[in-house]
Amino acid sequence: MNTFYVTTPIYYANSLPHLGHLYTMIVADTIARAKKQRGIERYFLTGTDEHGINIERAAEKAGRTPKEQTDYVVSYFKKMTAEFGLDTAHGGYDIFMRTTEPFHYQGVSEFWRRIANAKTPKGNDAIYKGHYEGWFCAPCAEYKTEDEYQKPKNPGDPPTCLIHDTPLDRVSEESYFFRLSDYDQALLALYETQPEFVRPESRRNEVMSFVAGGLQDLSVSRPRASVSWGIPVPNDPTHTMYVWFEALTNYITAIGFGNEEREKVAGFEKYWPALHLVGKDILRFHAVYWPAFLLAAGVELPRAVVAHGMWLDPNGRKMSKTLGNTIELDVLDRYFPTDGIRYFCLREMVFGQDGRFGYESLIDRTNSDLASGLGNLSSRTLTMIARYCEGQIPSGQIPEDKLLLAKRAGVDTDETTVAGFVENARVLFLQQFDLFAFSRALEAAWAVVARIDKMITDAKPWDLAKDETQKQTLGAVLYRSAEALRWLAVLLFPVMPAASNELWRQLGLSASPATVDPAGLKWGELKEGTATGEVKPIFPRLDKTKIMSEINESAKASGVHATEADAVSGAATQAAEPPPPMTHATEADAVGVTSFIEIGDFAKVELRVGEVLSAERVPKSDKLLLMKIDIGEPTPRQVLAGIAEYYAPEKVLGRKVVLVANLKPRKLRGFESQGMVVAASFGEEGRPVLATFTEDVPNGARLK
Ligand code: MSP
Repeated sequence: MNTFYVTTPIYYANSLPHLGHLYTMIVADTIARAKKQRGIERYFLTGTDEHGINIERAAEKAGRTPKEQTDYVVSYFKKMTAEFGLDTAHGGYDIFMRTTEPFHYQGVSEFWRRIANAKTPKGNDAIYKGHYEGWFCAPCAEYKTEDEYQKPKNPGDPPTCLIHDTPLDRVSEESYFFRLSDYDQALLALYETQPEFVRPESRRNEVMSFVAGGLQDLSVSRPRASVSWGIPVPNDPTHTMYVWFEALTNYITAIGFGNEEREKVAGFEKYWPALHLVGKDILRFHAVYWPAFLLAAGVELPRAVVAHGMWLDPNGRKMSKTLGNTIELDVLDRYFPTDGIRYFCLREMVFGQDGRFGYESLIDRTNSDLASGLGNLSSRTLTMIARYCEGQIPSGQIPEDKLLLAKRAGVDTDETTVAGFVENARVLFLQQFDLFAFSRALEAAWAVVARIDKMITDAKPWDLAKDETQKQTLGAVLYRSAEALRWLAVLLFPVMPAASNELWRQLGLSASPATVDPAGLKWGELKEGTATGEVKPIFPRLDKTKIMSEINESAKASGVHATEADAVSGAATQAAEPPPPMTHATEADAVGVTSFIEIGDFAKVELRVGEVLSAERVPKSDKLLLMKIDIGEPTPRQVLAGIAEYYAPEKVLGRKVVLVANLKPRKLRGFESQGMVVAASFGEEGRPVLATFTEDVPNGARLK
């Protein structure tokens, strides 16, 4: 049997989880569901990392014992994972791993013993006893070298952690060391021979240069007198294992390494090696230390370590409790449908890079892509099937003698055109999905939404319905739409399980898309005559004003600022690319116009109607779209616009747009931009919406 094991990091059980933690779980859950859908027996692990000095301290502060503290955090974790449909009961994780489980103690002890008996590739003992002298960050659970801390302002004070801004602990004590320095060649050989081991490529390079720079031996224990909340070192109970050594090992103890009972429940033999999903912040532990430990213990290495970027706030700042800009799970849970959050997380973050998360953008995307996009397509299709076809899936065939009529109505009589489009989208979707490029995969799915929407708008089924002779044409249009929706329900199931199930039900299909392999979908298998279900909005529109004012009110009440408006202005933003050649009027401009211009000033701007003839992404840029736009001149204009994050190339093809035609050309990323496309801009990150026309206008017409 084909198996697949996917893991998230196990989260520190010192404080309550937030969006960052939820995100990795969503990605892992999506991958796990996709595997299951394809008939692969998958195992999905998430859980909590419960030992170490930081947990001890958090517990003390809260007036609890460490176990009480971790039980408290775990109960919140479990409640939230259930709310978000990520628990076992909802088809999510297969184990919520806790490092306080007795089988973990047993497995880790076995792992330690194996390493303690091993020789390094250079023939030395893999573990030795020595003395550690240095600085330790409890929240990172990591020793810090000089370039990893901030020197104190006053001599005598401890340095501070560059990540947490908290004072480091001075450590001068006996310690067991893992001889990491002997593993550099073995690790480099691993990255060379298995280029897919660390992904994405940029992270692999990072890891390789870290290792190539030379590795230091790693302290893997603390005296019990300094840290008592942890697992004792076998044969030396005066030492507690270093929490990372022990935590990383959870990935194998969870499935039965070193414990026969557990092996029977899950199966180390069956599932190992795993694919580890991690945030880039903890890549070194997973891509350097962990494989070195495994090499020493003689255990097979993981399948891969895949690192994602971090969620920043709308201003591009790191999320932190101190800044008060974290996205809290209970707020998400209260105001937003889970599938919308899942969709947003996967669509908005280009996997591997950092992304920005704001409630306003979440609402905007939910409303545009889900409520107005997929949701509207499904409700208009199913409502028309209910109204015009007695609630039964019509035939997709147009009989010979009706082909001419269909053509006259502007309907493509060749069903394979639309089927081919949907089939290509499936190929692209699956390719991108398997490369962890979820955002691109979803774009491919939304190209189908746009294509089918256009097919309906062009065919005007409401007009066809008035003409009895066009009954089959009408049926064929609605069939194509319903069949495309069936495909979408299958493709999107791993991303949006609840919505896809609901769409499935409304299409009148039995069981669930959960086990329909997308690769096996065949166009035309939606059966004529299937009775469709009751039509309900799959994604109700979110009331932005209401939700935002409630979130802001409760944030004010709790002293936390949650939105950009509340946040400190002027904070450093991380501009990955030069600003795109598109300046949109902002909401603020629209609200408070303070100075007027003369009509002559406006006349200086030459605005022309254009039609997008071609569009493609600019290589190595997530934001830029390169378009050829016909504005009635002998040759089309080449224009760059910073809209690629919101508009897939297919989405703008054939669209009428407004172009600032007399803007001085400028070069960006090696391409000359001969004009600027006009768009509205709204939300925290200035989401663009292209200006367009609802009536026919010839290319080149001037706007005055
Ligand atoms: N306990 C260790 C991991 C041990 S794994 C053997 C740990 N825990 S943690 O609670 O700090 O969680 C770290 C992980 O949470 C990150 O690697 C990432 O997966 C997720 N995230 C936490 N904050 C995040 C963001 N702001 N954005 C995205 N993910 C982030 O490290």
